[in-house]
Amino acid sequence: MTTCSRCSTPSPDTRAVYDYRFEPARLADAARLAAMSRQLVESGLRPAWGCERIQTHIRHPESMVLVAVRGGMITGFAIMRYADDTAHLNLLAVDPLHRRRGVGQRLVRWLEESALTAGTFTIGLELRAANQGARAFYAALGYRELVQIPGYYQGVEAAIRMQRDVRAPSFTPPTAARS
Ligand SMILES: CC(C)(COP(=O)(O)OP(=O)(O)OC[C@H]1O[C@@H](n2cnc3c(N)ncnc32)[C@H](O)[C@@H]1OP(=O)(O)O)[C@@H](O)C(=O)NCCC(=O)NCCS
Repeated sequence: MTTCSRCSTPSPDTRAVYDYRFEPARLADAARLAAMSRQLVESGLRPAWGCERIQTHIRHPESMVLVAVRGGMITGFAIMRYADDTAHLNLLAVDPLHRRRGVGQRLVRWLEESALTAGTFTIGLELRAANQGARAFYAALGYRELVQIPGYYQGVEAAIRMQRDVRAPSFTPPTAARS
């Protein structure tokens, strides 16, 4: 197992979304991303997104593991798996110190643009039903809730399935003007 070369505590003075770089993850980032997934996405569940699984996605030609980097540190990431007709957003997380600055939105929009360019118009995802913040986030980005799936997470927790057609206009105003 490799360890991440970029993990440490981010500065709390982060402000503008243009201070962040968005780039494909490196294999050495996988340990940091697995730790973020455990803490920020999978808390209370058996971790399903370990370092090796994330490295598999980094290597896979039909997956994109995208990281948001500021000052050399990973502050957010997303994993998308592309197929012919649909793409699936597997994971998304932003470090709490960097939230509500448009980082999550830019990660998702980057991946949506790639899908649109490739001719893949439907993006689907599942999230924990109790995760009201993420439900509001995806709704703000134009995703609609399709169905609730009881027991989706390890038989103990329900998921909400959401979907967006990336050809449809999004109603979210740009967040880049924040300072
Ligand atoms: C969901 C998450 C990725 C959002 O990241 P973020 O960088 O804070 O999101 P953004 O700043 O791009 O938010 C864009 C818009 O989404 C909406 N939004 C984001 N977080 C929200 C929240 N907690 N409550 C209500 N609306 C929210 C807002 O409309 C926001 O725009 P605004 O800040 O101008 O009001 C982040 O909260 C997170 O990592 N949560 C824990 C992990 C998780 O739930 N992942 C998703 C399921 S796998």
